[in-house]
Amino acid sequence: MQAPTPVSATARVMTRARRLVQPVQRPPGPPVQPVIGRLPRVERALAGHGIEYMLDPLKFLTRMSEGHGPISHARLGIKHVYMLSDPALIHEVMIGRYREFCKGVLWKRFLIPLIGMAPLSADGEAWQRYRKMSTPPLQRKHIAGYADEMVACTERMVAEFSHGETRDIYADMSRLTLDIVSRCLFGQDTTRDATKLIEALDAAMENFARSAYSPRFLLPHWLDPSQTLGRAAKQTDEIAYAMIDRCRADGATGNDLLSRLIHARDDDGEAFTDREIRDHIATMLFAGYETTAISLAYTLAQLFDNRQVAERLRAEVDRVLGQRTATFDDVPQLPYADAVFKEALRLYPPVYAFVREPTQDLELGGFTIPRGSILILSPYVMQRKARYYRDPEAFRPERWLSGETDDNPRFAYFPFASGARVCLGIHFAKLEAVLVLVTLMQRLSLQVEPGFQVAPATLMTLRPATGLKVIVERR
Ligand code: HEM
Repeated sequence: MQAPTPVSATARVMTRARRLVQPVQRPPGPPVQPVIGRLPRVERALAGHGIEYMLDPLKFLTRMSEGHGPISHARLGIKHVYMLSDPALIHEVMIGRYREFCKGVLWKRFLIPLIGMAPLSADGEAWQRYRKMSTPPLQRKHIAGYADEMVACTERMVAEFSHGETRDIYADMSRLTLDIVSRCLFGQDTTRDATKLIEALDAAMENFARSAYSPRFLLPHWLDPSQTLGRAAKQTDEIAYAMIDRCRADGATGNDLLSRLIHARDDDGEAFTDREIRDHIATMLFAGYETTAISLAYTLAQLFDNRQVAERLRAEVDRVLGQRTATFDDVPQLPYADAVFKEALRLYPPVYAFVREPTQDLELGGFTIPRGSILILSPYVMQRKARYYRDPEAFRPERWLSGETDDNPRFAYFPFASGARVCLGIHFAKLEAVLVLVTLMQRLSLQVEPGFQVAPATLMTLRPATGLKVIVERR
């Protein structure tokens, strides 16, 4: 991937001057609605659609996508945002012209201070170097070796549950997926530090989501009085540097990602610095645990609401596994489990929207998109369109087995993104989710606590706002 061509200061001044005389013509978009809330007047005036977005991002993105054509516009705080609602346009941005876009300001403000520079956050040549280094342990051919560890972690967790107790299974899934990613990719046990790390990341994400479209966002993160991001970064430092030290002390001889990073040399013979290795660990922990935990929690929540689906899934598990521990070779025999997970990701994609920024002014969908504006691509919105899914709000795993979705365009379903920057953990996550799900179904009978409703909280991801309270029964 080429680095974006630098734009000179003179060219930028000229562009701004031209825009004063001839303003950019923006695509249509929803009108600003009167919103409740007690934000100070100056924040309200500057927020544009930002308050509406903050109050209910899913509703706002859906409203933005309906009735305004393939590309629509809104102002969120100081930023002009463009929502893409046409699979062909999304294809153009993610695949045909991906070199013309970068991750942009939201990443610089939040993720880079936390996870540093690694495949998720970098752009250009740095991204290429990092992605090349961290891809092999996550390739399809390597992940078979993680299956037994994934099942063993799940069985260990289940063994700690008591019959009849009430648990927040979302919190359990978070600890479990952190445990799995740490053991499989770094050969290390993080159970002792897991709660502290999860709490620090949660606080940072919540604070970021609250300030993202207000003028407070203009302040550098080290001036933020809450210091949640600083604390989460420090917590991550402690865990990651301790992992590096332990791995070096053990000789770094494993085939895991951490040992490989310690020994890696790039094309110029340069080794990664400890800071770069720390950033890779932070990235994999950050990207690898919460998304999978969320998707498992929503999968379970859907099973409580759809008893017939749960019964069909349990019948498949009993037929294929009986009481035997699941292995990698069982996965192809569990197509219904795979479809259940796929359908949960359709209705509740953990990354409900992601962003790209043009590195230069460019033309897209017949409009000029100025450099510095934000493009929003939303799996949540696209995956609920009646144009592509019959009965789109219904949880129907069968749609993935009957062939009815086969003719859909590629970007009618993209919970892991697609193209050059497709999720690096896609094969890992799919394998993990199916193995965890079938092991839970095999060992437990979970009942949702009477009256408990799962409500999505839209921070950076679509996590269940108040967890998922279940009553545990052993089978
Ligand atoms: C259900 C689980 C998961 C979902 C839904 C998911 C979704 C995504 C999405 C949508 C992106 C693209 C974000 C963007 O371009 O802005 C992404 C990127 C990424 N994901 Fe995942 N992810 C999951 C699990 C994982 C796991 C388990 C790992 C690691 C073990 C992981 C590592 C990454 C990395 C490193 C990237 C950056 C790729 C790049 O930019 O080159 N993800 N993921």
